[in-house]
Amino acid sequence: MSDSQPLDERVTNRSLRPDSPVFLAWVTSGWGARVGQTVQRSAVADFAAQRRARLAERFPGVRLVVPAGSRKVRSNDTDYRFRAHAAFAHLTGLGGEHEPGAVLTIGPDEHRLYLRPPAGRETPEFFADARSGEFWVGPRPTLEDMAVATGLRTADLAGLRDDLAGPLLVVRHDDAVTAMVDEVRGTHDADGDDALHEAVSELRLVKDAYEIDQMRQAVAATIAGFTDVVRALPRALAHPRGERVVEATFGARARTEGNTVGYATIAAAGPHATTLHWTDNDGPVRRGDLLLLDAGVEAQSLYTADLTRTLPVGGQYSPVQRQVYQAVLDAADAAFAVAAPGTRFRDVHEAAMGVLADRLAQWGLLPVAPEVALQPDQQHHRRWMVHGTSHHLGLDVHDCAQARRELYLDGILQPGMVFTIEPGLYFQPDDLLVPEQLRGIGVRIEDDVLVTADGCENLSAGLPRQAAAVEAWMASLA
Ligand code: GLY
Ligand code: MN
Repeated sequence: MSDSQPLDERVTNRSLRPDSPVFLAWVTSGWGARVGQTVQRSAVADFAAQRRARLAERFPGVRLVVPAGSRKVRSNDTDYRFRAHAAFAHLTGLGGEHEPGAVLTIGPDEHRLYLRPPAGRETPEFFADARSGEFWVGPRPTLEDMAVATGLRTADLAGLRDDLAGPLLVVRHDDAVTAMVDEVRGTHDADGDDALHEAVSELRLVKDAYEIDQMRQAVAATIAGFTDVVRALPRALAHPRGERVVEATFGARARTEGNTVGYATIAAAGPHATTLHWTDNDGPVRRGDLLLLDAGVEAQSLYTADLTRTLPVGGQYSPVQRQVYQAVLDAADAAFAVAAPGTRFRDVHEAAMGVLADRLAQWGLLPVAPEVALQPDQQHHRRWMVHGTSHHLGLDVHDCAQARRELYLDGILQPGMVFTIEPGLYFQPDDLLVPEQLRGIGVRIEDDVLVTADGCENLSAGLPRQAAAVEAWMASLA
C-alpha cells in the first residue's frame, strides 16, 4: 500500500465526503495565512551530518538510498503508529511520527532528503486525505522547514526517481523504494545492498555525545516508570489481570515522557517470569511472588532504554528467591567487571556464565563439573539461561543487529558503545531436574552500560539492584 494512496480510496463504501464542484470551490477558499512556528536547526543536525560523512567514506562514488519506511496497515483504513527505520533516524535525526515515505540519499555529490510536501489548500488532498491532509493530521512541515531543521537539502519525493542516477545501493526495507532502485539500476544487487545494511548498523556501534545524552534521558524516564509500577502494586494486587496494571502503568510513563515503549513490555509475575518474553501480561500479581519487569521508555528521539528488575511483590524476597537473585546479581557483577575497552563483546557473556555455572554446580544441578559445562560443546548450565547476556542498545532495542559477527559478538569493546548486561536464571514450573522449591522462579537483572575510556558506566545505576536495596526502595515507595 503506497503512502501516496489516499485512505478513502481503500474504503469507499462509507465515504460521505461531498465532492461537488460547489463544495470543492467552497472548501478550498477563504483561508488566511497559516500561523506557523519558527523552525530551528535541530540539536542533532551536526551529529547526523558527521554520521552521513562517515558512511559516505565507505562507499565512494555510490549514491546510497535510505528510506524512512512506509506506514503499516493495521486494518482497512487504519495504520499502526509510524516509526522510522533506525538507519534513517540515525542519518537524518528524524523519526517518530515524522515523514513516512521520506527517503534520504547520500552522495556522491550531495545529501538530499526527499519528502512529500504538504498539500496546498487549493487541493482536495488537504481536507480529504486522512493520511496526510492537514484537516486530518494537522500542519505538516514544508520542505523549507525540514531543510532548516535537518541542515539537509530537501526535495519533493515525486522527483526521486528522476534523480536516481549512477551506481546505487539501497537499504532494503521499503518495497516500493527497493523496486524503484532495482528498476533504475536494472539489477537486484542484494549483496551490495546487504553491505550497506551492515554498514548503517555498524555505524551505530559507537554512540556520539548526542546519542549518549538521549540514552541517559531514556534510562531516567524508564527508572521513573519502574517507580510508578512499584507505587501501583496495590492496584495490581487487587486486579485479576494485575500484570496489565503493571504494563499500563509503565506505558503511561513511556507515552507521556517519551515516544512510547521501546519494545513490548514484559510484566511477568510468578511462574510467568520463567518465560523470557512474556508479553501477554494477562495474569495476576500475587503477594509472595516475584514480578519480573523488563521495560524501556523510548525517548522522542527514538533511543530506548532496556531495563529489567525482578521485584518481590510483597516487599521482601523469600530465602530461596534471594538465593537465586543473588546468583544472578553476582553473574551481572562479573560481567560488569570485564566490560571495558579491549574486552571482546562475547567475553562479557562468558564472565556471567562462569558465575552461573559455578552456582548451579554448588546447588547440585549440573551433571558435570562447571569447567566442563562451560566448554562450547557442553553448556549444561544454559538450560536455565538460554539467552545471551548482552546486546547493543540505541535506536533499536537490539541495536546494530546487522553488524558483522567480527564487529558484534567477536568485536572489541570501545568507548561509546552502549549495551545491556542481563543475566538470568529461569526454572520452569515443570522442570524435573531442579528441586521443587526452585520451580516457577525466574529472575533477570538488566542494566544499560556505557563503555568509557577506562571501564564502563552503569547508566541505570539509579535503579536499585542489590536485594536489600530493592527492598528498601520498595518500602520507601509504599
Ligand atoms: N528486553 C527484551 C530483550 O532484550 O530481548
Ligand atoms: Mn534486553
